[in-house]
Amino acid sequence: SQTQIAIVVGSLRKDSFNRQLAHAIMKLAPAGVHFKEVAIGDLPLYNQDADGNEVAQVKQFRDALRSVDGVLFVTPEYNRSVPGVLKNALDQGSRPYGHSVWDGKPAAVVGMSPGAIGTALAQQHLRNILAYLNMPTLGQPEMFLQYQDGFFTADGAVAERSHVFIQKFVQQVVDWVHQHKK
Ligand code: FNR
Repeated sequence: SQTQIAIVVGSLRKDSFNRQLAHAIMKLAPAGVHFKEVAIGDLPLYNQDADGNEVAQVKQFRDALRSVDGVLFVTPEYNRSVPGVLKNALDQGSRPYGHSVWDGKPAAVVGMSPGAIGTALAQQHLRNILAYLNMPTLGQPEMFLQYQDGFFTADGAVAERSHVFIQKFVQQVVDWVHQHKK
């Protein structure tokens, strides 16, 4: 049967480089694999009082993740960490206690920034969170991408010079999910 991998993008910006990257990655899915973007922008701020009585947006988000075999996080770095919107989404998926949708799901991390260290610190913080959430996370290759003009083609693919590199990474993510899916 088809392997489903959720893509969670850590930016809400309309022209987000990371969302462009996510969409380019989706086009590189090998046969038998489907990437689906699971949006986080409509989630309310996590409030423990709502545990067990979640609003529809939270239920839909949790349902969308429950059925997938793995998760690819594509995130910018904000102030040397993960954007708050992404942390909020991770928190929303993790509760009520004992009902985390993340538990045991294989994960991978990638990020893009115009800055030279290309989200390295955000990714390290994210890995810390994913370890606690019991998500086996692809260790290598690490993918710190620096955005530059021409990285994407006009039709939203990865330009020639980075294509093979990104394609390889996608295949390694897929292999990781196949190895670790329940
Ligand atoms: C940034 N940016 C940034 N970049 C970086 O490499 N390290 C950082 O710590 C930060 N911090 C940061 C904080 C805030 C609040 C903003 C708005 C931005 C710049 C960031 O990489 C840039 O805005 C990217 O374009 C964000 O990714 P998207 O939205 O294009 O996917």
